[in-house]
This record gives sequence, structure tokens and C-alpha cells, in this order.
Amino acid sequence: MTFSFNKNFKNNIMYNLLKGKRGIIFGALDENSIAWKTAERVHEEGGVFVLTNAPAAMRLGNIDELALKTGSQIIPADATSVEDLEILVDKAVEILGGKIDFVLHSIGMSVNVRKGNHYTDQNYEMTEKGWNVSAVSFHKVMQVLYKKDAMNEWGSIVALSYVAAQRVFPNYNDMADNKAFLESVARSFGYFFGRDKKVRVNTISQSPTLTRAGNGVKGFDGFITYSEKMSPLGNASALECANYTITLFSDLTRKVTLQNLYHDGGFSNVGVSQSVIEMFE
Ligand SMILES: NC(=O)c1ccc[n+]([C@@H]2O[C@H](COP(=O)([O-])OP(=O)(O)OC[C@H]3O[C@@H](n4cnc5c(N)ncnc54)[C@H](O)[C@@H]3O)[C@@H](O)[C@H]2O)c1
Repeated sequence: MTFSFNKNFKNNIMYNLLKGKRGIIFGALDENSIAWKTAERVHEEGGVFVLTNAPAAMRLGNIDELALKTGSQIIPADATSVEDLEILVDKAVEILGGKIDFVLHSIGMSVNVRKGNHYTDQNYEMTEKGWNVSAVSFHKVMQVLYKKDAMNEWGSIVALSYVAAQRVFPNYNDMADNKAFLESVARSFGYFFGRDKKVRVNTISQSPTLTRAGNGVKGFDGFITYSEKMSPLGNASALECANYTITLFSDLTRKVTLQNLYHDGGFSNVGVSQSVIEMFE
């Protein structure tokens, strides 16, 4: 029998890959969020988790709906606050009845992007806030988990990145620097988490995806179409990203760590595609 995945499939194939696993999922805001899709897929694969987001985000999105659907509890936490993260981890371990097996960090925000400040005209207070939310928060999450010894052996921690960490995408602004910072934190902390706790840490470099964060990037429509035309397999959707993340949370990828894993339909290795060439002929 052959199974095929496509962007529109409604009936996900379930493998019970995460049965018995407990986790924390950061960053589900609305049904377009990559974290939202991941929570749904983790639930379908038998994993249990707590959902968390910044207290302010509780008013913006509809995370309650996701909690109800997946039988999860919500613990608000600002990911830049170590105190909030300590409470979150303690409560998660208590609610879930044991140590944590998987963590998704699906958080990104640039105040300069939001305010329309050009890369060459940054407000540095905004720059600091952006890297704190988008990159240092990942270090904070891991440091709290590490110090509390809250992760089970062979657990898996994933954060989401974008190829602007390696290549120039002018409108991605200071988020490019934040993603480079994030990927470096994954490698550096991942070394100690692997050596000391047998926990793996990776980043997934995802295609441009229509979400609230994605839409904040200037010229996003052109950006996403260009990426689609450049990628031999087309852009990866949020649901496809969720599916990939599940493999990284499962026991099938235990020795994958310190990696930035491209989940982009092949975009990152293409110089130019035939369909882009044809636009200039
Ligand atoms: N959408 C894309 O095109 C794309 C591409 C590659 C990578 N990513 C990355 O994927 C991740 C998820 O973004 P998304 O596209 O699902 O958008 P999204 O807007 O749905 O998710 C971003 C989340 O970050 C949360 N957040 C912001 N500040 C926070 C804080 N201080 N504490 C806790 N949470 C906070 C928001 O509330 C929101 O839930 C981000 O890291 C983003 O950079 C997105």
C-alpha cells in the first residue's frame, strides 16, 4: 500500500510515534501557527503536553480551543522571563506526571520589523528585545530544563529557524541575525545537553509559511511565491513542518543532534530553478 502526503490532506496517518511521551509546546497562537499544527499532530500520535505562550498572546489568539481539542492545560509564560519558565517547568512536570520528553520552541518576534524600521536604521532597544524573545529565550528555556534536570534521557528539543540565518533576505531584517543566534545556541547548548543528559537539540529551518509571524515580513507574498518557484518540492506547509517535528520527537531520530535541518522543499540547495529562469527570458 502507498501513502501520499500533500498540503491538503485531512486524514493524517497515525503511527503512535509519541505514545507515553510528555512535552511542552511554546508558541501556538492561532490555527495557522506552526506550533498549533504540531500540537494537533503530537496529540494524534499519542503524546501529552502543556501549551504555553506569552500572557499577552492569550488575549490575541484562541489557544483555549486548542487546549480543549487536545486535552491539554495552558500555562502562560513569557519566554524571556526565567522566573516564568521555572514555574512553567515545575507545573508541567507536575501536571504531566513525570519528566519531559520533548519541547518545541516556536517563538519569534522583531520589534524593528513590526515598526517598519529598516535594517540600516534600527532602534537598538528594539533589536535587544527581538533577540531576547527570538534567541536568548531558547537558551533560557534550555537552562531552566537543564538545571532542574527536567528532561528524560533521549528527550528532544526543537526550535524553528529560517534560511536567512545563512543567506541574505533583505526584508527579513534583524530576524536574520536572531535566527543565526538561535541556531548557534542550539549547537552550543545541545553539546552540553547531549553529553550530560542524553538529550538532543536541533533547529528546523522551515519554508516561508503563512502565519501571523510570517505575515509581518515586508513583501511576504512575493517572498513566498519566489520560494515556491525555487523549491523542487514546493514550499513546506505548517502541517508538513509539524509532521517533520514529530519524527524529531520520536525515538526514530535519537542520534540526530546539533543540526540545523532544512525543511524547505529543497530551496536551500537550489541556485536557480528553471521556472525562475523562464521569468527572465
Ligand atoms: N512563518 C514563517 O514563514 C516561518 C518560517 C521559518 C521559521 N519560522 C519560525 O517559526 C516559529 C513560529 O512562528 P509562526 O510562523 O508559527 O508564527 P506565530 O506568530 O503563529 O508564532 C510565533 C509565536 O511566538 C510567540 N511569542 C512571541 N513573544 C513571546 C514571548 N515573549 N514569550 C513566549 N512566546 C512568545 C507568539 O505569541 C506566537 O505564538 C518562529 O520562530 C518563526 O520565526 C516561521
